Amino acid sequence: MSGNTSKPKDWHLDTLAVHSGRADGVEGAVTFPIFQSTTYLDNGSTTYSGVRYTRLNNSPTHEQLHAKLAALCSTEAALSTGSGMAAIASALFGTLKAGDHIIAQDTLYGGTHTLFTHDLARFGVEVSWVDATSPATWHEALRPTTRAFYVEAISNPLCTIADLDAVVAFARKHSLRSFIDATFASPVNVRPATLGFDIVLHSATKYMGGHSDVCAGVIAASAEHLAPIAKTATHLGGTLDPHACFLLERGLKTLGLRVRRQNANALAVASALQGAAGVAAVHYAGLQESPSHKHFDGFGGVLSVELDGGADAAAGLFKRLTIAHHAPSLGGVETLVTRPAATSHVGMTPAERAAIGIGDGLVRVACGIEDTTDLVDDFRAAITAG
Ligand SMILES: Cc1ncc(COP(=O)(O)O)c(C=O)c1O
Repeated sequence: MSGNTSKPKDWHLDTLAVHSGRADGVEGAVTFPIFQSTTYLDNGSTTYSGVRYTRLNNSPTHEQLHAKLAALCSTEAALSTGSGMAAIASALFGTLKAGDHIIAQDTLYGGTHTLFTHDLARFGVEVSWVDATSPATWHEALRPTTRAFYVEAISNPLCTIADLDAVVAFARKHSLRSFIDATFASPVNVRPATLGFDIVLHSATKYMGGHSDVCAGVIAASAEHLAPIAKTATHLGGTLDPHACFLLERGLKTLGLRVRRQNANALAVASALQGAAGVAAVHYAGLQESPSHKHFDGFGGVLSVELDGGADAAAGLFKRLTIAHHAPSLGGVETLVTRPAATSHVGMTPAERAAIGIGDGLVRVACGIEDTTDLVDDFRAAITAG
């Protein structure tokens, strides 16, 4: 195989998205092919990871994808998984052991919250929830058994941004492993490894794949931090199929173009809905302030809107919108609207939801790449007619 295997350090993200990895593929193919084989001829290896087998994440298609992911995340290494949850579960189970304690942001994605409270708890890992925007409150959560600090770059669905520098400093001071789920930002808007985070996680089902047609996850870290996690990932078995690797790598090539449009669409829709009749509040990271804003190049395609009329008002809005689909998820080319109380956070009790500000009338808007004016007009008309 010949071609461009190097990644000049001064390439910008859009160039890396197209050319990082083995850009001219195999047999002169400009696009890297799919190695749809689960097993490979014996290569003489005597180690587990040296054997080439798809569950071990080491087909040529996986290696091509992983090189691109590491380049985009500004990390030494990266691993793909069969979903964002597989990435999160593999990273946590690969790092923690029974008796360990973790400090976590109190407004995490519902699936991650449930992983902590139901699954990790059954294996003897305890969690303390903290307000990740308020460093002064973190010290009282520390225990002698605390091993990690877990946050999201932009929280789902209220779009708050943790004090990222303070998280890294706190984790270093107390010898904790720092984890960040950067799904809502995507590497276009922030690259947390450059801020000092140890483990960066993504649901690649969202912006990275970008077309609502592949379910995948990413763990990006130093080779040293990734090694034990990669081993656990092969035992948990949440491997990404080679065809899905190909789809994800294809999606990554247009990541920058898509996410910058999504940033612009979300800012425009959020601004248009602020103060509109029937809208109690608009949450968008780009309209808020935080000490971490300086690290962001944009604030993503997601905003959320609190409607005065609760779940009924949300149902009416969903019917009147003509562009957005009423469906969960985010980060794809099409705009989606959903009610977190019924989807992403349905696993939490109403009291748990209320405690973190997720009411029945909260609508999450995940902007796609449609024309900005069309989207703003559609949302304005649907809200006004309510
Ligand atoms: C912030 C965040 N992290 C992780 C996940 C889980 O990703 P997946 O559905 O790919 O498992 C989601 C899903 O919505 C999410 O929003």
